[in-house]
Amino acid sequence: MEVLRDVVVLLHLVGFAVTFGAWVAEAAARRFRTTRVMDYGLLLSLLTGLALAAPWPAGIELNYPKIGVKLVLLVVLGGLLGMGNARQRRTGDAVPRPIFVGVGVLAFLATAIAVLW
Ligand code: HEM
Repeated sequence: MEVLRDVVVLLHLVGFAVTFGAWVAEAAARRFRTTRVMDYGLLLSLLTGLALAAPWPAGIELNYPKIGVKLVLLVVLGGLLGMGNARQRRTGDAVPRPIFVGVGVLAFLATAIAVLW
């Protein structure tokens, strides 16, 4: 059971890596667009995060305020990505820069909270 939890944590980290990695790749290529890959990474973070938010195996202690803050950040991130994707579809242009920067900052902030809190 503990190994299974560790595997889910690993997938949770992969979800973050996919979202943040896709964001860094867009920034490095100076395209500044939100992408499907970011959506998939965030979905993986959400599904694995929800699985980890249940106290298993028995006896494990969880920091629920921290989990709650990350959930809020993830919902806001999802909103930014949804807005960005819709705008890009409509106009064909890259998202407004504050939305793009917001995605990277919030993803980084969520990990900083996960690791430092
Ligand atoms: C973009 C969003 C998120 C990022 C970047 C993120 C990042 C991380 C990272 C780096 C860890 C490992 C560090 C640690 O164990 O202290 C972690 C653990 C965890 N995350 Fe997230 N997370 C996100 C969203 C969520 C959400 C939405 C939930 C739940 C609803 C969640 C629940 C958890 C739990 C329960 C753990 C602890 C795992 C354990 O120690 O057994 N996370 N997260």
